[in-house]
Amino acid sequence: MTRDATGRAAELRAQIAHHDYRYHVLDDPEVPDAEYDRLVRELLEIEKEHPELVAPDSPSQRVGARPAAGFATLEHRIPMLSLDNAFSDEDVVAFDRRVRERLALETDVPYSVEPKIDGLAVAVTWEDGVMVRAATRGDGARGEDVTANVRTIRSVPLRLRGAAPRRLEARGEVFMPVAGFERMNRIAESRGERTFVNPRNAAAGALRQLDPQVTAARPLDLFFYGVGEVDGAALPERHSEVLAALRGWGLRTCPEIGVVQGVQGCLDYYRRIGERRSSLAYQIDGVVYKVDRFADQRQLGFVSRAPRWALAHKFPADEAVTTVREVEFQVGRTGALTPVARLEPVFVGGVTVSNATLHNMDEIERKDVRIGDAVVVRRAGDVIPEVLRVLPERRPADARSVVLPGTCPVCGSPVVREEEGAIARCTGDYACRAQRKERLRHFASRRAMDVEGLGDKLVDQLVEADLMRSPADLYALGVEQLEGLERMGRKSAEKLLAALERSKQTRLGRFLFALGIRDVGESTAAALASHFGSLEPLMQASADTVQEVPDVGPVVAARVVGFFANPANLEVIARLRAAGVVWPDQPRTAPEKLPLAGLTFVITGTLAAVQRAEAEERLRALGARAAGSVSAKTSYLVAGADAGSKLAKANALGVPVLDEAALLKVLETKRPPG
Ligand code: IVH
Repeated sequence: MTRDATGRAAELRAQIAHHDYRYHVLDDPEVPDAEYDRLVRELLEIEKEHPELVAPDSPSQRVGARPAAGFATLEHRIPMLSLDNAFSDEDVVAFDRRVRERLALETDVPYSVEPKIDGLAVAVTWEDGVMVRAATRGDGARGEDVTANVRTIRSVPLRLRGAAPRRLEARGEVFMPVAGFERMNRIAESRGERTFVNPRNAAAGALRQLDPQVTAARPLDLFFYGVGEVDGAALPERHSEVLAALRGWGLRTCPEIGVVQGVQGCLDYYRRIGERRSSLAYQIDGVVYKVDRFADQRQLGFVSRAPRWALAHKFPADEAVTTVREVEFQVGRTGALTPVARLEPVFVGGVTVSNATLHNMDEIERKDVRIGDAVVVRRAGDVIPEVLRVLPERRPADARSVVLPGTCPVCGSPVVREEEGAIARCTGDYACRAQRKERLRHFASRRAMDVEGLGDKLVDQLVEADLMRSPADLYALGVEQLEGLERMGRKSAEKLLAALERSKQTRLGRFLFALGIRDVGESTAAALASHFGSLEPLMQASADTVQEVPDVGPVVAARVVGFFANPANLEVIARLRAAGVVWPDQPRTAPEKLPLAGLTFVITGTLAAVQRAEAEERLRALGARAAGSVSAKTSYLVAGADAGSKLAKANALGVPVLDEAALLKVLETKRPPG
């Protein structure tokens, strides 16, 4: 045995004990679960190699932490166990193989498959149909008495339905739905109160309130996933049938639960749920497989703290700890400087991340991020990874503060920090290569001038070669100049020129959007176009006149007027028109007289007959708003094929749903639905 292993094991135990306390007692974890799991796994590895190092206080000898002061403790007559974790398909295959070997089965094993809800385990007991007790898991043998708090959860029946057993102890997971969590945090933020890191911590905080009134005001829910002690009723032969019986007694179970055959069924389920994970109303951190037949479960039995008949298959962690190597500033289309953390590469959410956004200087100051800090990064779905928080106790002595540069890192123009907001901007405009690139990308993008084939790399090359001072230079390009660029043959050059030629036939709304006036998005551009009908009156308009356009306030009006007051912008417009960019004048209709005025549409899923962008544009031309997300203000949701979370949300909010045929009818008849 090496001294190293002894020392490292002691260090790991101390760290794990510290994190246990932060997590279970304070409800205020310092590190993400994945980091904690990593420490535990490392310790278990060492203990496996050196069994003499296993100490009574090792996490391998115990599950969970002691109850917090303030709650009475209750005993679990049947211990509340935990689950073994799998992190890969191979782990699952090995689990299934072990199960079949022990059962001496050649055929597929039926498994109950369930989302692993990211909340807190509780055991709730009903006697003669009346709810009498609820306890947290605690250390598995004793938990905290949270009866009063669980009673406040609306979905937990205080009396069971139908013929109830003399005693029923059902076990499940208390959680906070994501929407409720976000609402709660918004309110907390507006009051200047402390916000919660994630729904799990918010649920833990709510459940462990000493005052049940406080718990009652928090949006908690509970899914049941099994039973403990049951008296006076014969249980069915399968776990899935128990879940059905629980539902019969009026208990809530997760609607995504199912039964599959064999390991392939398990892995398919894992994929399916994984794809829908971000659209579920609650957070899950994996799925759970349970051998469905109780006879099989009994035969398989337990090892120390976990059953041999169940397995938690975890999703790749979407939070991880790493180090900030440097902070650099990226310059966007409007000159805004975005601080980006260059990180020690770390595997998170299924990919290796080496950059994360820090949003703006206010965020850096609020989170107190310094170069050299250990930080928690998160990557959720397709969004840009972000730095969530710093681990101050790990700050090295030589950590450096982040300083906003006085001049643009790309062009050297002065940087100004706006009074109203947190945003710092490069004042270089078209003199700044970074701004030029972003403006060009925006100008050519699909919803603007729609120049096919003008990709990111090409834009970089054009700007670097100084061929592109403003978007107007695009239409002056010739085959010779293009051919000189990397990976550009004659053929692709000609193709790009043809695409440029096609893009000249546009619409006023698209053209205005393409100009990249600050705060003028697609909707505002379309509204300006239909209000003014053509460009000249808009260019001449006063701020007051511009403000007559629906949804345009003083800030946007000032941006529009300011844009057309700038001679450089006027020159760009004149050159674009001279190059042949044209659009039909739009009939000027008072926007409130347009047939779909006042209606907001959201399109989701795949449409067969029209592109979504086109459908939205046509809706806007008829006076409607086309929005990206469903809210109570949405008038109609148009659901194409494979509509997902937006459809669910619309149904939940009672927003009327149209199919594609109904949408086409609206576009054809130019009348509101129905
Ligand atoms: S079964 C012996 N089913 O995961 C079986 N647990 O890591 C014990 N959890 O303490 C639990 N969803 O808090 C089970 N569908 C599910 C679950 C689930 C979440 C939690 C539970 C448990 C922990 C084990």
